[in-house]
Amino acid sequence: MRKIYVFDTTLRDGEQSPGVNLNTREKVEIAHQLERLGIDRMEAGFPAASPGDLAAVNAVAKAVKNITVIGLSRSREQDIDAVKEALKGAEDPCIHVFLATSPIHRQHKLRMDKGQVLDTARSAIRYAKKTFSKIEFSLEDAGRTEYDFLVEMVNMAVEEGASVVNIPDTVGYLSPYEYGNIFKHLKENVHNIDKVQLSAHCHNDLGMATANTLAAILNGADQIEGTINGIGERAGNTAIEEIAMALETRQEFFQAKTTLQLSEIARTSRLVSRLTGMVVPGNKAIVGANAFAHESGIHQDGMLKEKTTYEIMTPETIGLKESKLVLGKHSGRHAFRERLIDLGYELDDEALNRAFAQFKDLADKKKEVTDEDLLAVIEEKLQDA
Ligand code: KIV
Ligand code: ZN
Repeated sequence: MRKIYVFDTTLRDGEQSPGVNLNTREKVEIAHQLERLGIDRMEAGFPAASPGDLAAVNAVAKAVKNITVIGLSRSREQDIDAVKEALKGAEDPCIHVFLATSPIHRQHKLRMDKGQVLDTARSAIRYAKKTFSKIEFSLEDAGRTEYDFLVEMVNMAVEEGASVVNIPDTVGYLSPYEYGNIFKHLKENVHNIDKVQLSAHCHNDLGMATANTLAAILNGADQIEGTINGIGERAGNTAIEEIAMALETRQEFFQAKTTLQLSEIARTSRLVSRLTGMVVPGNKAIVGANAFAHESGIHQDGMLKEKTTYEIMTPETIGLKESKLVLGKHSGRHAFRERLIDLGYELDDEALNRAFAQFKDLADKKKEVTDEDLLAVIEEKLQDA
């Protein structure tokens, strides 16, 4: 089974979510949890952005062990120097240098032609190489870059000794077929491509970040980049937990897996949500409150007979205790009776029928009937009898 390296950027791209600002203590707390989750590489921040971020990256670099700690840098010497300063004390430091390559960015943002982009990136990698043995180079907006220029840029990064080359779909524009095809093209056209790891970095503007990342894996990506709960700029980044569970659940299809401690997923998700203040939607894949909850009678009946009828993975795998059968107006007698047994009540058929009718009346008025509501119904019935 091929190993896929996990590059977590919750503390950098994730922190770029509007309204999120993590202080040093919070970054270190998340970093320790990411360590427990078993990620391979952690982007701790963008040291040139502010003295506070530099200090936070440095605190993370010193706090975590057995993990590569990464600092982001534009293709500028001052940024590279800031990363050098921030990663002092890191066990396994790595610099992440980037430069935009697409025509739109070249023309409007950088005001550079292709030759200037190539030279600027080359000089930045050479300068970084004086300090760092591990360098990741990113072609920002690679998703909207001409194929021949992508090949030229990646050839240069390989020649200059980058260890990882990242191909971001910066604006979440591509479809899985198109994104996967870029990896295929690079594998077939870059000289010595086996000297570097290729990395996938997707944004979720069209809701395709997870699908695009999986397409990259199918076409040879060695590393995936993402964040916990998929937080990040605009609609966010690829959610790491979704990739890990897709590879785990569909091993036979992807023939690749991460080495994450999957049972730490739920805890990591809750911590990131609490410290960033970004609430996880109930229907979010893997970590949403409803991801393992069943409401309809047909589904609950199936679950009570055999869980694989409606669950393709178990909540225990991600560190949750059990699936939840939510009692509401779609629920059936089977789930109702089982919940009463759990609460310590085994009613005869007639009492059960009466209690069930009352439960349905209540369920018409409430979104969810809680255990407290059920206890009130039962106690009332028992007093009547
Ligand atoms: O989305 C992006 O292009 C980035 C780069 C800095 C890698 O986050
Ligand atoms: Zn990004």
